[in-house]
Amino acid sequence: MNNDTSTQERALLDQQIAYYRARAPEYDAWWFRTGRFDRGEANNAAWHRDTAAVERAVDTMLDTRRPSHVLEIACGTGLFTRRLAPRAARVTAVDAAPEVLAINRDRVAAANVDYVQADVFAFEPASRYDLVFMSFWLSHVPHPRFDAFFAMVRRALAPCGFAYIVDSAHDPTSHAVNHPTPDRDAGIVTRLLDDGRTFNIVKVFWEPPTLGVRLQAAGFDARIAATARYFIYGEARPLGATG
Ligand SMILES: C[S@@+](CC[C@H](N)C(=O)[O-])C[C@H]1O[C@@H](n2cnc3c(N)ncnc32)[C@H](O)[C@@H]1O
Repeated sequence: MNNDTSTQERALLDQQIAYYRARAPEYDAWWFRTGRFDRGEANNAAWHRDTAAVERAVDTMLDTRRPSHVLEIACGTGLFTRRLAPRAARVTAVDAAPEVLAINRDRVAAANVDYVQADVFAFEPASRYDLVFMSFWLSHVPHPRFDAFFAMVRRALAPCGFAYIVDSAHDPTSHAVNHPTPDRDAGIVTRLLDDGRTFNIVKVFWEPPTLGVRLQAAGFDARIAATARYFIYGEARPLGATG
């Protein structure tokens, strides 16, 4: 990456943080399909079937693998922290946006969650974890940062640890009604807030086979599945790890 490209990419990543800080109070409307994310009865029902499928998969993973120490990357308002906290001994929940951390803290209200305000791209784990969990984060990692990000994940993992990924599939009814339909391959999308403010952010739409190949190249053996329409999910284990 030359200097101009990396300056532009940093500006985009800063805009991405600014977007999520400003969006914090309206963020959950996306998950619960309210306001601008209400896509009508049939699409909403399909969405809720898929959110239930992903939540079941995450709960099953937690109940069968029983990770004790969990690092949650880009924890947001706690839609998944609320599932991790009751099932783990300790969760470290990282996010760059203080506004979402405050909502998360109120929602989850658990003494075993340590909140860390940090830029993931500058984050260095101080501990080792049984699970590194990321929901709707990987799609915000630009392609040139993929390997460095997963090198950090690997450093964060205890010898038998693994990563778990939940993210967006490309579906034209996934985003808000007033968002431009994202170009599947552009790597950038335009997002609006309720008040009409506009932001550009990174959005990489992975599909299970291509993500599996890319993770293999980054040193992980991955098992990634898809729900009927909206999500991809699954685990990634460092190559050569046992357990
Ligand atoms: C799509 S949300 C996902 C939140 C949550 N994991 C969920 O499942 O709802 C993306 C999150 O990434 C955070 N974020 C964006 N850029 C970041 C960065 N550079 N470092 C840390 N967090 C960042 C945002 O604040 C936001 O909470």
